[in-house]
Amino acid sequence: MVDLKSQYLDIRDEVLTAFDETLTGMQLNLGPNVQAFEREWAQYSEVAHAVGVGNGTEALHLLLRAHDVGPGDEVITTSFTFIATIEAIVQTGATPVLVDIDPHTYCISPQLAAEAITPATRAIMAVHLYGHPADMGALAEAIAGRDILLLEDAAQAHGARYCGRRVGGLGDGAAFSFYLSKNLAAYGEGGVVTAGDEALAQRVRSLRVHGSLEKYVHEMIGYNSRLDELQAAVLRIKLRRLDAWNQARREHAARYDAALAGIDDLTLPVVADWAESVYHLYTVRSKRRDELAAALAAAGIGHAIHYAVPCHLQAALADLGYGKGSLPETERAASEVLSLPMYPELTDAQIDRVCEVVREALG
Ligand SMILES: Cc1ncc(COP(=O)(O)O)c(C=O)c1O
Repeated sequence: MVDLKSQYLDIRDEVLTAFDETLTGMQLNLGPNVQAFEREWAQYSEVAHAVGVGNGTEALHLLLRAHDVGPGDEVITTSFTFIATIEAIVQTGATPVLVDIDPHTYCISPQLAAEAITPATRAIMAVHLYGHPADMGALAEAIAGRDILLLEDAAQAHGARYCGRRVGGLGDGAAFSFYLSKNLAAYGEGGVVTAGDEALAQRVRSLRVHGSLEKYVHEMIGYNSRLDELQAAVLRIKLRRLDAWNQARREHAARYDAALAGIDDLTLPVVADWAESVYHLYTVRSKRRDELAAALAAAGIGHAIHYAVPCHLQAALADLGYGKGSLPETERAASEVLSLPMYPELTDAQIDRVCEVVREALG
């Protein structure tokens, strides 16, 4: 699915030098790399503030906490996501309200989100799934004139654009993950909250260090969730290459698109006309998905299913009371999607081989 080692070998000298400088400088607690990365990430994401935190799940959680989302509040989101999106909502004490997806982009359906609004709705959490932005304009329209927040889970969409604007600055705050396999990834854990509002960013800064902006003075109960200084050093090196890597992903997607066009019962990823995807994943769908997976496995080709069991059918969320059949488009997608190998260093020959196996399996 991904080859993290080949990317490391390309940047090895820079990473080792940065590690040495960082450890020699020994300013490891929110040190110069975290501070510089926060400025650089804010600039890259075209948003005023970025606050580095421990991981993407914490970024979501702290963003919600900074907005005072909590018990009695409802947060509308999608079930077709990594469970962290929903975990973070549950951790605040708020209730996740799960609605179905748009079957083309796999992101939350703005129309269904609008229909799910109640007097208790505090926020809509859009997830830019697979690197493709959710329809933020339609979601903004759904909440227009109401006191409802529009938040972004941008964990899979570093650098993606909605109507020309980068994700991360499209609503009332966003969360990114730098998990190992993300488009921008640390060599460990990392995350960041982006926000246009200085007061909100300041609350996240406080929450990530035990509710404290001044040493040993605690204005609220917070967390221990700093972005690690060594990880920030890695992220700065990789950020300089992110646009080129995302461009490589788009070129790979175009090669897949061309080679896989016209196969019966194979639906290729769709990019909405207002979207610039960064192809975190190249995810196809087929009613013969399991056959396709078996053929890829037999050929030794990495593949994965994002996500075979949607969140509303996970045991951990059984209390929410969504049964089988409650979110039909999500459940259909879960039974049909399959992600093919996608990472910047993928070669044309590798893509061609994957396509050959897909054609043989479904052709
Ligand atoms: C959509 C989504 N949200 C949240 C997360 C959580 O990020 P992390 O693993 O850094 O906690 C991830 C990735 O793992 C994700 O894919």
